[in-house]
Amino acid sequence: MPNTNIVAVDKNRPERDKIKRAAEIIRKGGLVAFPTETVYGLGGNALDENAAKKIYAAKGRPQDNPLIVHISSHLQLDQLVKEIPVRARILMDKFWPGPLTIIFYKKDIVPYGTTGGLDTVAIRMPAHPVALELISEAKVPIAAPSANISGRPSPVCAKDVAEDLSGRIEMILDGGATSVGVESTVLDLSEKVPMILRPGGVTREDLEEILGPVDLDPGLAPGEKPRSPGQKYRHYAPKAQMTVVEGSIENQVKTIEEFAKRLETDGFEVGIMATAQTRHRYTRGHIISVGDRTAPLTISSNLFTILRKFDRLGVDKILAEGISKDGIGLAVMNRLYKAAGFNVLKV
Ligand code: TXA
Ligand code: MG
Repeated sequence: MPNTNIVAVDKNRPERDKIKRAAEIIRKGGLVAFPTETVYGLGGNALDENAAKKIYAAKGRPQDNPLIVHISSHLQLDQLVKEIPVRARILMDKFWPGPLTIIFYKKDIVPYGTTGGLDTVAIRMPAHPVALELISEAKVPIAAPSANISGRPSPVCAKDVAEDLSGRIEMILDGGATSVGVESTVLDLSEKVPMILRPGGVTREDLEEILGPVDLDPGLAPGEKPRSPGQKYRHYAPKAQMTVVEGSIENQVKTIEEFAKRLETDGFEVGIMATAQTRHRYTRGHIISVGDRTAPLTISSNLFTILRKFDRLGVDKILAEGISKDGIGLAVMNRLYKAAGFNVLKV
């Protein structure tokens, strides 16, 4: 088992010697966790099947759940994919670097070990100086799933990564908290109407402004079969059992307050995931505001931190307010549903 070295790095101007050390580990087939603008990634050489194996082992991840390959320049893409559709080029120009992952047909150089046996490969260029410098210094594309134990909330700071992966990877580059807080949008361009396989940092509205109508994979609904292999697994789950309560704000507050009372009477420790608008209206349980409904990025960037916080508090039940699915709210609600195992109460 490797000794995990946690190295603090300047997130805007990462120190060269630190990036070099990390890149050296990647080139030798080892694993380094690093910050992106979405969540921390668990990086290994995307062209090395053995490194991919180590990533799956460190996370305890099912082998059929493909990894996202991270690149630092548009040129790097030609080496990896058979063709670059026109729509992909337009999106790359507009959203890269940024939280958009696009699915392409892979060239042979990308091992099946990285793509979970698929002929396609998911690729993105992260908008984070540390990630970009690391990829370019490593001189190989970097496969990086979120740097959490499979099924746990994704990590948004080095401490989250260490909590899950200490002793399993060689290094964590600590570049502070990530900004977006939920993962990238995964987009499939193979059909006439583009399809979001995982909602994320680039919103459906952002994409539709450029592409026209964009579908959301109907397989993301409970009980359906998602197109993206990773989406079928339970994910983001806190230890406590969670219920998402959706409806008007008034109904949410009333239902959650009553629900919390009943649970407490039954002897449960209750956590309430409220918002800036509602937190003062609850009288019981561990009340935490996830952010401001009028500034949804405050919610996305806080979401996984709050889920981990409830774990540390040791609550038995979490009651979470739903928010609007506009903009990044779609990604937030997707993560909340999954964290709750689709335990949703409409009021
Ligand atoms: O923001 C992010 O995307 C973060 C950071 C580290 O870049 N990475 C991340 O990776 O979230 P991961 O492995 O946790 O999620 C990858 C998702 C999974 O849902 C997987 O099924 C999907 O991308 N995916 C990867 N390759 C695919 C492919 N060829 N076809 C369909 N879905 C794919
Ligand atoms: Mg993940």
